[in-house]
Amino acid sequence: MKTKTILGAVLGAVLFTSLAATVAPNDPKITTREVMKAKLESSQKVLEGIATENFVTISANAQKLAALSQAAGWQARQTPEYKQYTAEFRRHAEALQKAARDENVDAASVAWFQLTISCVNCHRHLRGVRTVSVPLAPAAQAVAAW
Ligand code: HEC
Repeated sequence: MKTKTILGAVLGAVLFTSLAATVAPNDPKITTREVMKAKLESSQKVLEGIATENFVTISANAQKLAALSQAAGWQARQTPEYKQYTAEFRRHAEALQKAARDENVDAASVAWFQLTISCVNCHRHLRGVRTVSVPLAPAAQAVAAW
């Protein structure tokens, strides 16, 4: 009886956590503003993780960023450019997750830098200004090529 209760609680917790992780970002009730705010918080936490070499923090927040970029609230514009910037953003968030898995803080720094440039490019697009591509410094390129 007691075992069953504990088992039920554990199963419930697991189910709740996985539901929260998979369903929440696509909840249409999450507004664009909330998505964007969560994005800022997670990207700041990634930087904290990099600075303290906390790969769990980097990975968890990079994963959150990738999930947020798929949320309905993220789709604030329907232009091809917006889709492209979203894809770029997600690619860098995934590179961050890989760097965290590899416990490679240099690769994580480069991915975070590229992610930040994708923030700037998309926001510039939103303001209707022509985007420029920022070339990476040779050292950063060498790390990115790892
Ligand atoms: C693919 C496009 C895109 C990318 C990439 C992007 N953003 Fe945004 N961001 C938006 C949109 C859309 C808004 C909402 C403002 C609007 O509709 O004009 C926004 C709003 C914001 C806001 C204001 C939130 C508020 O409370 O009003 C902040 C802060 C922000 N973004 C930070 C970031 C950061 C940090 C990154 C990179 C880690 C980033 N953004 C990457 C599209 C993007």
